Order: sequence, then structure tokens, then C-alpha cells
Amino acid sequence: MAKFELIVALCLLSSVAFVAAATTTTAPTFFIVQGRIYCDTCRAGFETNVTEYISGAKVKVDCTHFSTGKVEHSNSGLTDSTGTYTINVVDDHEDETCEVVLVESPLDKCKEIKVGRDRGQVVLTLDAGMSTNVRHANSLGFLRDEPLPICDKLLREFYGLAEEELNVL
Ligand SMILES: *[C@@H]1O[C@H](CO)[C@@H](O)[C@H](O)[C@H]1NC(C)=O
Repeated sequence: MAKFELIVALCLLSSVAFVAAATTTTAPTFFIVQGRIYCDTCRAGFETNVTEYISGAKVKVDCTHFSTGKVEHSNSGLTDSTGTYTINVVDDHEDETCEVVLVESPLDKCKEIKVGRDRGQVVLTLDAGMSTNVRHANSLGFLRDEPLPICDKLLREFYGLAEEELNVL
């Protein structure tokens, strides 16, 4: 009797182990890409203290195959009230370059896209040595049609400060 129970217990244990092994190896891979979209109110190419974050901006994640140059995966999303988007991307993209790309701004005065500043790379492979599947992308900005009046002063201060820092180094 005890022997029979032991065998049953062992069978149960091994099937649990088998199921666990099967689920870890076949579980679908997915990544959560997060970032923020802003209005570049100074047309500066970076965030300043007068940057505004855009709600309802459309962005996409495109994964392009290294050798074929073909877009193998594309998924888009919208930003929330804090300008933050969250886009899920399924599968591992070891052989692809994945980029977050600006698509469309809901703001009439802030919808210009500057080629080169309209995208940022994200690494969507488990081989990248990161322990989480959440990937934070750099912020991307649409350009305001006219810089805000404060920007002149602000950018002069910014570049002045950068010069002082360079002199110290
Ligand atoms: C932003 O920075 C500039 C320059 O330092 C300053 O004059 C301005 O008051 C700041 N604006 C806000 C909204 O904090």
C-alpha cells in the first residue's frame, strides 16, 4: 500500500515537473515597450523644462530583418494622458532591428516630424542579458510649429552651462 502511494506520488511529481518544463520552454515570448512622447516646444531636439507631453499621440514599433530589410513585425499604440505609451510585441526579435517610430500627433501646432529624430531603437530579444521583458525607449518628440518665447533664454542658458561643463573637464 505504502509502495503504491509512493509510486503515485512520484508519477504526480514527475508530471508536474514535465508540465513546468514544457511551459517554460514553450511559453510565448513577448515584450512590453514603454516610452513617452512629447511636444518639443523649443524645437531643440531634447526635453526641456517647458516640454509638454502629448496625450493621444500615435507611435509604432517596427522590427526590420537584418538581412532582408523587410518589416517583420509592426504594432502601434497611443499615448495616455501622461504622454506614455505601452506597446506589446510578441516573439523574440534576435535577427531584427526594432524601433519605436513617431506616427501622428493630435496637436495641430505640434505635429511636425523631423526625420532622424523620429525614431529610437529598442532591443527586443531575450539574449540581450536583461532580466525583464519591459523595455524603456527614449522619449520622442514632435516639433512645435513655433518655439515658445522662453526658449531663446532657456537654450542660451542650456548651451552656456554645457560650455562651462566642458571647460571643467
Ligand atoms: C525653465 O528654465 C528657464 C531657464 O533656466 C527659466 O527661466 C524658466 O523659468 C523655467 N520655466 C519653468 C516653467 O520652470
